[in-house]
Amino acid sequence: MAVQQAGGHAKVETSNFLMIVLILITVAFGGLVEIVPLFFQKSTTEPIEGLKPYTALQLAGRAIYIREGCYLCHSQMIRPFRAEALRYGHYSVAGEFVYDHPFQWGSKRNGPDLARVGGRYSDEWHRVHLHNPRDVVPESTMPAFPWLEKIKLDEPHTFTLAEGFQVVNTGNIQAHMKGMRTLGVPYTDDDIANAPDQLKGKTELDALIAYLQSLGIYGPKD
Ligand code: HEC
Repeated sequence: MAVQQAGGHAKVETSNFLMIVLILITVAFGGLVEIVPLFFQKSTTEPIEGLKPYTALQLAGRAIYIREGCYLCHSQMIRPFRAEALRYGHYSVAGEFVYDHPFQWGSKRNGPDLARVGGRYSDEWHRVHLHNPRDVVPESTMPAFPWLEKIKLDEPHTFTLAEGFQVVNTGNIQAHMKGMRTLGVPYTDDDIANAPDQLKGKTELDALIAYLQSLGIYGPKD
């Protein structure tokens, strides 16, 4: 029986190093071909028609959403499946999220997706629900967030908070918005100048509810 010559393929298969390098090159190339065009496609980089940046109060609420770890149980991304669209509304499209830095898409769903929760409940419902979810949904496993209504956005807090707990207030909202502007969110100088006034007299609960009520309201309707 003729012994097979150690040709090119046999060399690759018998050298771990060569195999690893060639796999990396192939995977990197495949990845680039899939990912790079997305950076240039209008449908993934341009805002959908009518999309508005978060107001100062909504943006403050968003920071609280992140601080409280709501994303650990809630996604904000309706997948393009019939069952999802029936439950949550039109599936999410990339252009809805161009002003979101960072995205809150998430992947864990202990609770329902929140991508289109804006307008689904009244502010009062959210107030009760966030204070103690079981007051409105008896079987709920969502934790209560009773401290949010005690933290004012325009006053130094009167009880002890862990370092960095108060993430947004009248003192830093302008810097927050300027940061967003650097990332491409079209805030005007007026928006930024008026931001602290918008937060005056508001609590963290007000801000979080304003944020929740804004989710998905500019998105495509069924
Ligand atoms: C440990 C998991 C968990 C965390 C953390 C959590 N939730 Fe929930 N959430 C749930 C569950 C489970 C439900 C469904 C039962 C209910 O309505 O209370 C829910 C329901 C909701 C709903 C109603 C959605 C709908 O369509 O009916 C909203 C709004 C909501 N959560 C907002 C929040 C916000 C804001 C935070 C952060 C401050 C948060 N959740 C943190 C588990 C969680």
